[in-house]
Amino acid sequence: MKTYQDQWVKGKLVEKGMRECAGRYEIVKSFCKQFRRPFTVCDIGANMCYFGLRLTEDFPKCYVVAFEFDKFDVRAVHVQKNNPSRLLFLKRKLSLNDLSVLNAIGHFDLILALSVLHHVGNKFDAWLMALRNLGDNVIAEFATDDSRSRRQSPDYRIPSDAQILGYCESHINKQIQRPIVLLPGNPQ
Ligand SMILES: C[S@@+](CC[C@H](N)C(=O)[O-])C[C@H]1O[C@@H](n2cnc3c(N)ncnc32)[C@H](O)[C@@H]1O
Repeated sequence: MKTYQDQWVKGKLVEKGMRECAGRYEIVKSFCKQFRRPFTVCDIGANMCYFGLRLTEDFPKCYVVAFEFDKFDVRAVHVQKNNPSRLLFLKRKLSLNDLSVLNAIGHFDLILALSVLHHVGNKFDAWLMALRNLGDNVIAEFATDDSRSRRQSPDYRIPSDAQILGYCESHINKQIQRPIVLLPGNPQ
Protein backbone atom coordinates (compact mmCIF):
# COMPACT_ATOMS: atom_id res chain seq x y z
CA MET A 1 0.00 0.00 0.00
CA LYS A 2 1.13 3.58 -0.63
CA THR A 3 1.54 5.00 2.83
CA TYR A 4 0.97 8.53 4.03
CA GLN A 5 4.40 8.70 5.65
CA ASP A 6 7.77 7.69 4.30
CA GLN A 7 8.89 4.27 5.47
CA TRP A 8 12.03 4.33 7.55
CA VAL A 9 14.05 1.23 8.43
CA LYS A 10 17.26 1.29 10.47
CA GLY A 11 18.58 4.66 9.41
CA LYS A 12 17.32 4.56 5.81
CA LEU A 13 14.37 5.68 3.76
CA VAL A 14 13.07 2.49 2.13
CA GLU A 15 9.90 3.81 0.52
CA LYS A 16 8.59 7.28 -0.15
CA GLY A 17 5.14 8.04 1.18
CA MET A 18 2.56 10.55 -0.04
CA ARG A 19 3.55 13.13 2.49
CA GLU A 20 6.79 15.02 2.88
CA CYS A 21 8.40 13.74 6.09
CA ALA A 22 12.12 14.60 6.20
CA GLY A 23 11.59 18.37 6.39
CA ARG A 24 8.95 17.99 9.05
CA TYR A 25 11.26 15.72 11.01
CA GLU A 26 14.06 18.31 10.91
CA ILE A 27 11.71 20.78 12.61
CA VAL A 28 10.91 18.31 15.39
CA LYS A 29 14.55 17.26 15.72
CA SER A 30 15.72 20.87 16.06
CA PHE A 31 13.28 21.36 18.90
CA CYS A 32 14.43 18.17 20.67
CA LYS A 33 18.10 19.19 20.58
CA GLN A 34 17.44 21.32 23.68
CA PHE A 35 16.97 18.22 25.85
CA ARG A 36 20.18 17.33 27.67
CA ARG A 37 18.55 14.55 29.70
CA PRO A 38 16.27 11.60 28.95
CA PHE A 39 13.04 12.86 27.41
CA THR A 40 9.66 11.45 26.53
CA VAL A 41 7.49 11.91 23.46
CA CYS A 42 3.87 10.91 22.81
CA ASP A 43 2.98 10.76 19.11
CA ILE A 44 -0.77 10.89 18.44
CA GLY A 45 -1.74 9.41 15.08
CA ALA A 46 1.71 8.01 14.41
CA ASN A 47 0.93 6.43 11.03
CA MET A 48 4.15 4.54 10.04
CA CYS A 49 5.83 5.80 13.20
CA TYR A 50 8.33 7.79 11.12
CA PHE A 51 8.84 10.40 13.81
CA GLY A 52 9.20 7.97 16.72
CA LEU A 53 11.62 5.77 14.80
CA ARG A 54 13.81 8.66 13.80
CA LEU A 55 13.73 10.37 17.20
CA THR A 56 14.78 7.21 19.03
CA GLU A 57 17.56 6.68 16.48
CA ASP A 58 18.92 10.21 16.74
CA PHE A 59 18.50 10.70 20.49
CA PRO A 60 19.77 7.82 22.61
CA LYS A 61 17.87 9.18 25.62
CA CYS A 62 14.54 9.61 23.86
CA TYR A 63 11.58 7.38 24.80
CA VAL A 64 8.47 7.37 22.62
CA VAL A 65 4.94 6.07 22.90
CA ALA A 66 3.07 6.25 19.60
CA PHE A 67 -0.64 5.61 19.00
CA GLU A 68 -2.30 4.54 15.77
CA PHE A 69 -5.39 2.46 15.00
CA ASP A 70 -5.81 2.39 11.23
CA LYS A 71 -4.17 -0.57 9.39
CA PHE A 72 -2.29 -1.14 12.59
CA ASP A 73 -1.06 -4.66 11.92
CA VAL A 74 0.77 -3.79 8.72
CA ARG A 75 2.25 -0.68 10.32
CA ALA A 76 3.36 -2.69 13.35
CA VAL A 77 5.23 -5.13 11.07
CA HIS A 78 7.03 -2.16 9.56
CA VAL A 79 7.92 -0.69 12.97
CA GLN A 80 9.21 -4.07 14.13
CA LYS A 81 11.71 -4.15 11.22
CA ASN A 82 13.52 -1.44 13.14
CA ASN A 83 13.66 -3.54 16.28
CA PRO A 84 13.14 -0.42 18.39
CA SER A 85 14.01 -0.64 22.07
CA ARG A 86 12.76 2.75 23.32
CA LEU A 87 9.55 2.94 21.33
CA LEU A 88 6.10 1.59 22.14
CA PHE A 89 3.79 1.50 19.12
CA LEU A 90 0.28 0.95 20.41
CA LYS A 91 -3.01 0.23 18.70
CA ARG A 92 -5.59 2.68 19.93
CA LYS A 93 -7.99 5.20 18.50
CA LEU A 94 -7.47 7.69 21.27
CA SER A 95 -10.48 9.41 22.80
CA LEU A 96 -10.63 12.41 25.09
CA ASN A 97 -11.18 10.02 27.97
CA ASP A 98 -8.02 8.11 26.99
CA LEU A 99 -6.08 11.37 27.11
CA SER A 100 -7.29 12.07 30.63
CA VAL A 101 -6.32 8.53 31.71
CA LEU A 102 -2.87 9.03 30.18
CA ASN A 103 -2.62 12.35 31.94
CA ALA A 104 -3.36 10.71 35.30
CA ILE A 105 -0.66 8.12 34.61
CA GLY A 106 2.16 10.30 33.37
CA HIS A 107 3.39 13.42 31.67
CA PHE A 108 5.48 13.88 28.51
CA ASP A 109 8.15 16.33 27.55
CA LEU A 110 6.70 16.57 24.07
CA ILE A 111 3.38 15.73 22.44
CA LEU A 112 3.33 15.34 18.66
CA ALA A 113 -0.02 16.11 17.04
CA LEU A 114 0.99 16.38 13.41
CA SER A 115 -1.86 16.67 10.93
CA VAL A 116 -4.19 14.88 13.31
CA LEU A 117 -6.30 17.58 14.95
CA HIS A 118 -8.58 17.78 11.91
CA HIS A 119 -9.56 14.16 12.69
CA VAL A 120 -11.14 14.89 16.06
CA GLY A 121 -14.60 15.93 14.96
CA ASN A 122 -16.11 18.93 16.68
CA LYS A 123 -13.98 18.57 19.80
CA PHE A 124 -10.95 20.56 18.71
CA ASP A 125 -10.78 22.87 21.74
CA ALA A 126 -11.20 20.00 24.20
CA TRP A 127 -8.49 17.99 22.43
CA LEU A 128 -6.13 20.91 22.42
CA MET A 129 -6.59 21.44 26.15
CA ALA A 130 -6.12 17.70 26.82
CA LEU A 131 -2.92 17.61 24.75
CA ARG A 132 -1.52 20.66 26.52
CA ASN A 133 -2.29 19.01 29.87
CA LEU A 134 -0.48 15.85 28.79
CA GLY A 135 2.84 17.49 27.99
CA ASP A 136 5.24 20.34 28.64
CA ASN A 137 5.22 21.12 24.93
CA VAL A 138 2.96 20.32 22.01
CA ILE A 139 4.15 20.39 18.41
CA ALA A 140 1.12 20.48 16.13
CA GLU A 141 0.78 20.62 12.39
CA PHE A 142 -2.34 22.26 10.98
CA ALA A 143 -4.00 20.92 7.85
CA THR A 144 -5.05 24.35 6.71
CA ASP A 145 -5.65 22.98 3.20
CA ASP A 146 -7.91 20.08 4.19
CA SER A 147 -11.63 20.70 3.85
CA ARG A 148 -12.26 18.20 6.65
CA SER A 149 -10.86 20.74 9.07
CA ARG A 150 -13.65 23.11 8.16
CA ARG A 151 -16.35 20.47 7.83
CA GLN A 152 -15.68 18.66 11.08
CA SER A 153 -14.69 21.34 13.50
CA PRO A 154 -15.81 24.96 13.44
CA ASP A 155 -13.29 25.82 16.16
CA TYR A 156 -10.30 24.37 14.22
CA ARG A 157 -7.72 27.14 14.17
CA ILE A 158 -4.12 27.91 15.06
CA PRO A 159 -4.18 29.16 18.67
CA SER A 160 -3.01 32.70 19.30
CA ASP A 161 -0.12 31.57 21.54
CA ALA A 162 1.33 29.28 18.86
CA GLN A 163 4.92 29.84 17.85
CA ILE A 164 5.52 28.94 14.21
CA LEU A 165 8.41 26.48 13.92
CA GLY A 166 8.18 26.04 10.16
CA TYR A 167 6.07 25.04 7.19
CA CYS A 168 5.93 21.91 5.06
CA GLU A 169 4.29 21.12 1.77
CA SER A 170 0.78 19.68 1.77
CA HIS A 171 0.22 16.47 -0.20
CA ILE A 172 -3.28 17.62 -1.14
CA ASN A 173 -2.26 20.92 -2.67
CA LYS A 174 1.45 21.42 -3.29
CA GLN A 175 0.97 25.18 -3.41
CA ILE A 176 0.03 25.13 0.26
CA GLN A 177 2.48 24.88 3.13
CA ARG A 178 1.11 23.45 6.35
CA PRO A 179 2.24 25.31 9.48
CA ILE A 180 4.00 23.40 12.21
CA VAL A 181 3.70 25.18 15.55
CA LEU A 182 4.87 24.93 19.11
CA LEU A 183 2.18 25.29 21.75
CA PRO A 184 3.02 25.66 25.41
CA GLY A 185 1.81 22.72 27.46
CA ASN A 186 1.26 22.53 31.18
CA PRO A 187 4.52 21.57 32.88
CA GLN A 188 4.12 19.55 36.05
C1 LIG B 1 -3.13 12.67 8.33
S1 LIG B 1 -2.37 11.34 9.18
C2 LIG B 1 -0.96 12.13 9.94
C3 LIG B 1 0.09 11.12 10.34
C4 LIG B 1 1.30 11.71 11.07
N1 LIG B 1 0.91 12.30 12.34
C5 LIG B 1 2.00 12.69 10.20
O1 LIG B 1 1.74 13.89 10.32
O2 LIG B 1 2.81 12.29 9.38
C6 LIG B 1 -3.41 11.15 10.59
C7 LIG B 1 -3.17 9.83 11.30
O3 LIG B 1 -3.75 9.89 12.59
C8 LIG B 1 -4.43 8.68 12.84
N2 LIG B 1 -5.47 9.03 13.82
C9 LIG B 1 -6.54 9.83 13.63
N3 LIG B 1 -7.26 9.96 14.76
C10 LIG B 1 -6.62 9.20 15.70
C11 LIG B 1 -6.90 8.90 17.06
N4 LIG B 1 -7.96 9.39 17.68
N5 LIG B 1 -6.04 8.08 17.72
C12 LIG B 1 -4.95 7.57 17.10
N6 LIG B 1 -4.66 7.81 15.79
C13 LIG B 1 -5.48 8.61 15.10
C14 LIG B 1 -4.95 8.27 11.47
O4 LIG B 1 -5.24 6.89 11.41
C15 LIG B 1 -3.79 8.64 10.58
O5 LIG B 1 -2.82 7.63 10.46
